[in-house]
Amino acid sequence: MPSPDRDDLPTDLLGAIDALRKERNAVILAHYYQEPDIQDIADFIGDSLQLARAAQGTKADVILFCGVHFMAETAKILNPTRTVVIPDMAAGCSLADACPAPLLARMKAKHPDHKVVSYINCSAAVKAISDIICTSSNAEKVVASFPRDQPLIFAPDRNLGGYIQKRMDRPMLLWPGTCMVHETFSERRMIELKVKHPGSRIIAHPECEPSLLEKADFIGSTSALLDFVVKDPATTFIVATEPGILHQMAKAAPTKLLIPLPGLDETCACNECPHMKRNTLEKIYLALRDLKPEIVMDEALRLAALRPLEAMLAIS
Ligand code: 13P
Ligand code: SF4
Repeated sequence: MPSPDRDDLPTDLLGAIDALRKERNAVILAHYYQEPDIQDIADFIGDSLQLARAAQGTKADVILFCGVHFMAETAKILNPTRTVVIPDMAAGCSLADACPAPLLARMKAKHPDHKVVSYINCSAAVKAISDIICTSSNAEKVVASFPRDQPLIFAPDRNLGGYIQKRMDRPMLLWPGTCMVHETFSERRMIELKVKHPGSRIIAHPECEPSLLEKADFIGSTSALLDFVVKDPATTFIVATEPGILHQMAKAAPTKLLIPLPGLDETCACNECPHMKRNTLEKIYLALRDLKPEIVMDEALRLAALRPLEAMLAIS
């Protein structure tokens, strides 16, 4: 989406967003990886599971989803009578892109005895051919909902799947997708930072590579990492996830030292999600003003994708 023309924008952007939010009876949902200025205007901030629940439960007429496409799509699947808009339609996700539905369908056909557990970071078409969805905060519970002798395919994140497989001692067929952000964190810098701050705690999102997860003191979803920083007695935390989460961590635990783990190439901001960061206040204003880009979905696809999402929500 091209950058908005400055002439199109009011001088008091925050005031204009607020006025439109009221006029449209809109709710602004934001993921923890959004820029701080977006988190600060959101009605609700959360991880993928919390945002899905918030989208399902809202009475607002319009959901403005400040996150990436699969999250807004999930909101539409769960709450079809609302208008769902996203600041930038190009805000995708490398995990969702790594798993085209026809290829997953082919894998399923090769393993007809397997059930499919799909991480919520996938398209509606992938959801539609999955048996159940999970997020990083309920993946273990979702996998445990199948009898131990039920063979499983886990898509599309091989790192989250591998982590769950190891924790539960439960082999699964893993789709080879990765998050472009979490696969680039530097193990060398993680070790250096730990040596420099010996009392620190390394906390990591399960989308990280296994060699990093092995070194982590705590592994969890974005909301679990936030909770850990607040409750753990340590004063220094090396944070191996997208640094957007640091905004809420700093607010909730202002006396703690939070060190975002850099990516392999420290000359770029590779530890920031380029998709999440496409969203801006300017695009939020325009999305509320014009009610676009809007998420629209074929009803048959929506209903097929709803079934595994509801299966997840029923057990989490
Ligand atoms: P959470 O479910 O932990 O919010 O993770 C979403 C995500 O996209 C992480 O990269
Ligand atoms: Fe997708 Fe990774 Fe960005 Fe999360 S951080 S939205 S998994 S690309």
